[in-house]
Amino acid sequence: MFKKIFLAFPIFVAVFLTSCASSKKTTASSSAANSLKEAYKNDFLIGAALNAQQIEEKDAQAAALIPAEFSAITPENIMKAEVIHPEWNRYNFDLADKIADYGKKHNIKVNGHTLIWHSQLPAYIRTMKDADSVKQYFTNHINTVASHFDGKIYSWDVVNEALEEDGSMRKSIFLNKLGEDFVTEAFRLVQKAAPNTELYYNDYNIEQPNKRAGAITLIKKIQAAGVRIDGIGIQGHWHVGTVPFKEIEQSIIEFSALGVKVMFTELDLEVLPRNFQGADVNQRVASNPALNPYVNGLPDSVMQQQASDYENLFRLFLKYKDKVGRVTFWGVNDGQSWLNNWPVRGRTNYPLLFDREFKPKLAYYKVLELKTKKNAEQQKPF
Ligand code: G3I
Repeated sequence: MFKKIFLAFPIFVAVFLTSCASSKKTTASSSAANSLKEAYKNDFLIGAALNAQQIEEKDAQAAALIPAEFSAITPENIMKAEVIHPEWNRYNFDLADKIADYGKKHNIKVNGHTLIWHSQLPAYIRTMKDADSVKQYFTNHINTVASHFDGKIYSWDVVNEALEEDGSMRKSIFLNKLGEDFVTEAFRLVQKAAPNTELYYNDYNIEQPNKRAGAITLIKKIQAAGVRIDGIGIQGHWHVGTVPFKEIEQSIIEFSALGVKVMFTELDLEVLPRNFQGADVNQRVASNPALNPYVNGLPDSVMQQQASDYENLFRLFLKYKDKVGRVTFWGVNDGQSWLNNWPVRGRTNYPLLFDREFKPKLAYYKVLELKTKKNAEQQKPF
């Protein structure tokens, strides 16, 4: 009898937490520790990537939830070069100015994403053959965009994804035409154009040993040139059940030893099958029903595993809260995540803390509980 009750207890707790999750109102009040940003306010910023609709506050549910739950925001797409610098001599700051205003209005820190990236470049630069023209684009783009937002946003992902998986420099138009010092040069230009803005290098899989070594070499090179770099962003596009906890911990230790802040900048834990790691937007897989198994809902076992992975991740982040500056989710709710369309288009994915109706999931409560249950993180050391 006792054994039966004992065995049933975890199921009871899970059902209880799940029902709490579905009863929390989306207009979460930020009072006490009833929101992520309040619960973690003495530890690190909690962020989300926003799409254009959310930046324009066109979605009422998102408009209520974002300022209540998050203390940092990153534009998911609208500060990328193809949007902000669509023609050689024309910049379009409309939406980007809106996210800066949004941050000011709600007292939320804005991270600019991103100045130099090989992807989502405007057509005129993608086909450019002449190195001098690429150099001119590079200099003009950084000077114009970085100075426009200096004092209006908190930080920049100055360079995004400049490394290959083996830690060597990624073969990109910038490497080909400008040589491998382009990363240091980008930071040098932004430092001058945006002296009041924090400067970060951002990449995926840099918790993995080879790529991490490449990132460390990059940071050391920037520092040796006497140029400022304030932080490193580990994107954090991981898979439920295979989160590389040991490598993440080692990365926090090694990156912070260089004197830079460590950030988790694009966190999501996806649940759908995929046979490769990372977030290379050029990788695509053909659609196939076997790759889309949860169209009618997420099985309880997967939801439990995801909640436990998020809980362990945040326990690890808290262990190093003196080194971690921000943890940003790549999207607000499951229905809005890029992972519904990558690497396979049109799937039903569940990678975030809020479901398609903006209701907090079990994972949300697990992350919140780490702070709201007294001394929870000390009770169960990572
Ligand atoms: O802008 C067009 C729009 O005009 C058109 O109507 C629509 C129709 O599909 O497509 C729109 O472009 C899409 C764009 O997102 C804006 O929604 C592109 O097809 C789509 O490929 C693009 O995907 C973005 C991806 O970066 C592409 O680079 C994702 O939303 C965005 O989440 C993702 O973010 C990247 C980070 O910047 C860097 N790290 C990896 C991360 C995930 O890939």
